[in-house]
Amino acid sequence: MTLCEYKPGLEGIPAAQSSISHVDGQKGILEYRGIRIEELAEKSTFLETAYLLIWGQLPSKEELEAFEHEIRYHRRLKYRIRDMMKCFPESGHPMDALQASAAALGLFYSRRDLHNPVYIRDAVVRLMATIPTMVAAFELMRRGNDPVKPRDNLDYAANFLYMLNEKEPDPLAARIFDICLILHVEHTMNASTFSARVTASTLTDPYAVVASAVGTLGGPLHGGANEEVIQMLEEIGTVDNVRPYLEDRLQRKAKIMGFGHRVYKVKDPRANILQSLAEQLFEKFGYDKYYEIAQEVERVMAEKVGSKGIYPNVDFYSGLVYRKMGIPTDLFTPVFAIARVAGWLAHWKEQLAENRIFRPTQIYNGLHEVTYTPIEKR
Ligand code: CMC
Repeated sequence: MTLCEYKPGLEGIPAAQSSISHVDGQKGILEYRGIRIEELAEKSTFLETAYLLIWGQLPSKEELEAFEHEIRYHRRLKYRIRDMMKCFPESGHPMDALQASAAALGLFYSRRDLHNPVYIRDAVVRLMATIPTMVAAFELMRRGNDPVKPRDNLDYAANFLYMLNEKEPDPLAARIFDICLILHVEHTMNASTFSARVTASTLTDPYAVVASAVGTLGGPLHGGANEEVIQMLEEIGTVDNVRPYLEDRLQRKAKIMGFGHRVYKVKDPRANILQSLAEQLFEKFGYDKYYEIAQEVERVMAEKVGSKGIYPNVDFYSGLVYRKMGIPTDLFTPVFAIARVAGWLAHWKEQLAENRIFRPTQIYNGLHEVTYTPIEKR
């Protein structure tokens, strides 16, 4: 076998054949099963888009209703999972709480019937239905409150905001949140999806697949960046401070969160949509001074590093949208996970269809034939 050139971060190395989504990083195009993201954001709903990704085609009216119905009636958490979550330290990060809770589902549904379409469907429904409930329940419990029960007469996005804020959301906020879920649901072979596929390739259960992906999504170079964007905007504090702040960081070769992407060399199409959603929210619910700072950051970054292809990514404006909806900063990444679980499950299914366990190689650069030194001589 010929040895390939080593590529740190596997840059440019295909890890799978996939028909789920496609990115053109030069033109700024993202498609799910061939449909442009802009069209889905305008015309679809999160559950319809999730169905498209997982089952490969848009559902008929009856199929969509059946899927929505199943999700609606599986939203409640088992009381033992709720009790387990009550024991989590409230100072813990909600992503860690989510990873542990998603993995715990595997304790209750440990049968691995991976060739049975009913098992696959049940797992998809259970994970998509309960993950939003887990995120909201942990938030309420760490505030010292009992979790709010899901409401069957609210749709997916509205129900999550209701469980989180303990009141029915404004319809515009709920629709915008649903669009945010569409924008975050899938994005080709990113780190967490790769992690999901590696775990899936061992033929373990889907709860372990999702738990491993949640753990991977949490890092600041991946889903965790949107939290850090808000912290950065707060640190900058004023429009006048943008230029000196960025110049100082860029000179020190520090990364500016919410900018840059392995694949996009232009502004991420999702960032454009999120920016317009933020503007709609500000128009209805009041202005956010950090938006002006964010726009100035975008202008100065284009001037300084635009020629290197570093532009806003999905995380740059999503935090401002979530903040306006009253979502706490450290829930931004769990909210990303609520959406992305459907993408991970689409990849789980695709991996199972033509599975070969991931077992890459390495280039060994250590020693050979070393003799053991007894402890007293070290
Ligand atoms: N700020 C300043 N410089 C940057 C940035 C940035 N955000 N991103 C890349 N660069 C520079 C980097 O310093 C390097 O410069 P040089 O060639 O002079 O050494 C060059 O661009 C290439 O950077 P890289 O880190 O090798 O690129 P990568 O493809 O490995 O990294 C990335 C992609 C997303 C990890 C990186 O752009 C980054 O760390 N961005 C900040 C974190 C962030 O916003 N992450 C969210 C990513 S999108 C959503 C998701 O995947 O979850």
